[in-house]
Amino acid sequence: MSVRVERLTKRYGDTVTALADVSFSIEPGEFVAVLGPSGAGKTTLFRCLTGLTRPDGGSVIVRGRDICAIRGQQLRAARQDVALIFQQFNLVRRLTALHNVLAGRLARLPTWRVVLRRFARPDRQRALACLDAVGLLDRAYARADELSGGQQQRVAIARALAQEATVVLADEPVASLDPESAAVVLDTLRVVARTGVAVVASLHQVHLAATYADRIIALRAGRVVENAPVGRLDARAFEQIYARAGSTP
Ligand SMILES: Nc1ncnc2c1ncn2[C@@H]1O[C@H](COP(=O)(O)OP(=O)(O)OP(=O)(O)O)[C@@H](O)[C@H]1O
Ligand SMILES: [Mg+2]
Repeated sequence: MSVRVERLTKRYGDTVTALADVSFSIEPGEFVAVLGPSGAGKTTLFRCLTGLTRPDGGSVIVRGRDICAIRGQQLRAARQDVALIFQQFNLVRRLTALHNVLAGRLARLPTWRVVLRRFARPDRQRALACLDAVGLLDRAYARADELSGGQQQRVAIARALAQEATVVLADEPVASLDPESAAVVLDTLRVVARTGVAVVASLHQVHLAATYADRIIALRAGRVVENAPVGRLDARAFEQIYARAGSTP
């Protein structure tokens, strides 16, 4: 098992319960889509999974360690196991694709190498292999700001791969992309999952989740209202995920 979430609860103030008793686990090689209307708790869940937000209760176990229970150096080490990809690609725009991917290895490299940009040959080779895996080897030396949105998102995925994370989280990774680029990015995430990584992506488009994901976890008002393989869900079940909240997809 790659990640196990147990009874996760997060409140903001006295009135907002962003996550209520959320439990699920994800296997290596699985691509899980998290669905749910705005405010359902998707981003809060991802922030708890990376240790950026501390829950009020529950645990997140990655490789035997509870991310919610550790701090400092231990937490920094555990965070290497969890890569996060954002809606906005968060690349260093003036650096090349290759350098951005190498940045994914920073935590694993001595500081002086990073400062001097002296990356050892194995690190470069690894970074190039990650760019190859997302279909961008030929753009390795292009600056990030010369790439299209879809290409930038694939560089972000390559960076997550270079980090050698156990879990790759993507919060609305295709929200800023046109349909064609979105399809390529989701296809890439699926390829990444098949290398044995657990991939969890929040999506707003039900049809994309149904096409690319292995399993759907649906949240509503901070609770898990669906957790099933895509093949077990029919059109009505998908409609319900949004209908129950009284909003449309
Ligand atoms: N820092 C915060 N302070 C107070 N309330 C917050 C904070 N972050 C999130 N919330 C609240 O927690 C709930 C869940 O928010 P969250 O951002 O996790 O939803 P989401 O599913 O990611 O929504 P969206 O689809 O719009 O991105 C919402 O009611 C939101 O207003
Ligand atoms: Mg969100």
